[in-house]
Amino acid sequence: MTPAPHWQRDVDLSGANTLRLPAVASRFAAPKTHDALAACVRDARERGLSLHLLGGGSNVLLPARLSGAVIRPRLNQWWLHAHHDGVMAYVGAGVNWHSLVMALAKRELWGVENLALIPGDCGAAPVQNIGAYGVELADVLDGVQVMSRDDETLRWLSRDACAFGYRDSVFKRALAGKVIITQLALRLSRTPRPVLGYGDLASRVSKRPSSLEIAQRVCDIRRQKLPDPAQLANAGSFFKNPLVSAQKAAQLLTLHPDMPHFAQADGRYKVAAGWLIDQCGLKGARFGAFGVHAHQALVLVHFGSGDRDELLQVAEQIATTVQARFGVALEIEPRCL
Ligand code: EPU
Repeated sequence: MTPAPHWQRDVDLSGANTLRLPAVASRFAAPKTHDALAACVRDARERGLSLHLLGGGSNVLLPARLSGAVIRPRLNQWWLHAHHDGVMAYVGAGVNWHSLVMALAKRELWGVENLALIPGDCGAAPVQNIGAYGVELADVLDGVQVMSRDDETLRWLSRDACAFGYRDSVFKRALAGKVIITQLALRLSRTPRPVLGYGDLASRVSKRPSSLEIAQRVCDIRRQKLPDPAQLANAGSFFKNPLVSAQKAAQLLTLHPDMPHFAQADGRYKVAAGWLIDQCGLKGARFGAFGVHAHQALVLVHFGSGDRDELLQVAEQIATTVQARFGVALEIEPRCL
């Protein structure tokens, strides 16, 4: 016997998204087991309800009303398994990402220390392939367990099957709306593998840093630049860093020799959206209930009383300004539910 789904009705989600956009879910459930999750998925399907998955709410743009059903998986178990060349961490989708990173770093395990202080649940991490300070989830992920929304069966996807790219994965494409991420398998190392090439990270750590020291320095850097959602509502980077052709990058560099740019394996260049917005004089700019963060122009902040439509208009205005000045298109990073 599977448990009966437990739906709460008309649930206020304004505190469940870090941008604090006003949002009400017609039905909401937070299942703690695979069986309870399967019961919710089946019930929503049988009732013909559209189903929305919510994690930590740190990378979503919620509408005022979410009809259908919203599920926040609370699969909060994780454990370690010794492996021939390291340690595998099996992590439930509901585990808080930052707590996991710190717990692994305290055990002197290597692999995710550069990804400290990224907000959100582990289940959301593969969707956008979270990345920071020279490391992406794809670098350590071994596989993802998913539940089918059609028949609630569980299966494991290999890392290759996840088709990871920069802030991109199969979960935003072919599998969008088809599966629910239930568990991650992360391949960690006991041998030190510091990745210190990004920005000034190397100059902030000791000669032979522990993974915990690196995680702590990454937290320091993030706290300097990025607003704490508990103090000032935001969803981290609001735009992706755009990829431009080598020709376009050369053209931009002729005009702006100091423009930050990063060569990609495919010959294109990634340019810093924060720098582009900053150069347009928009850092710290206020647009009604929203604004461009004063320390990092890639982050939009919400001062209260705004909604998603207004935020999308502000984003459009910023993108239009950048397009007119640099001829580069910006793409929004958080997911519109
Ligand atoms: N810059 C400016 N002005 C700004 C912001 C940035 O000139 O207002 C310049 C910086 O000086 C630097 C370059 O742009 O030369 C890149 O800036 P930064 O190192 O702060 O990183 P980012 O490209 O703006 C990305 C990720 C962040 C991640 C950092 C560190 C995306 C969309 N964002 O930001 O991820 O923490 O690199 O790796 O790729 C997130 O996704 O929510 C997020 C915070």
